[in-house]
Amino acid sequence: MDQAGVSDAIGTITLSFSATDAKVAALGFVLARAHWGRGLGSEAVCEVLRYAFETLALEQVTAEAVVRNLASLRILAKFGFKHTENFIDASDGERCERFALDRDAFENLRARPSGR
Ligand SMILES: CC(C)(COP(=O)(O)OP(=O)(O)OC[C@H]1O[C@@H](n2cnc3c(N)ncnc32)[C@H](O)[C@@H]1OP(=O)(O)O)[C@@H](O)C(=O)NCCC(=O)NCCS
Repeated sequence: MDQAGVSDAIGTITLSFSATDAKVAALGFVLARAHWGRGLGSEAVCEVLRYAFETLALEQVTAEAVVRNLASLRILAKFGFKHTENFIDASDGERCERFALDRDAFENLRARPSGR
């Protein structure tokens, strides 16, 4: 039976849109620590990128990651995201990086036999 306020969700993955450009969205993902290291983050990112580029026909997906989270950097790299800039998160002083992935780059990566 469901309990009010209790969720079985183990993480979230989001596409956020700006008011100015309907062809670009920002990807965000977070998974509860107990579920790290089983490929779930990669699988979720793969499905949402396919949805973003194939269903929504976006031109670009951007992402931000904290530099010390090596798994998130690895996920972004293996799906072809390119580094665009460094910045410091004003709320906690963490070193972060910004990335972007164009639709062509994602499709080219997926077309390769080893592409995910
Ligand atoms: C990022 C996050 C979702 C990863 O989820 P996950 O399910 O553990 O990731 P996966 O199991 O798919 O592993 C991703 C890759 O990182 C690699 N990896 C994991 N930990 C690593 C580490 N400490 N150092 C280097 N690589 C690491 C894995 O080997 C895998 O690479 P591979 O596919 O080449 O083997 C999770 O760490 C998280 O929620 N982090 C906090 C939020 C965050 O940083 N979000 C990203 C920006 S919005």
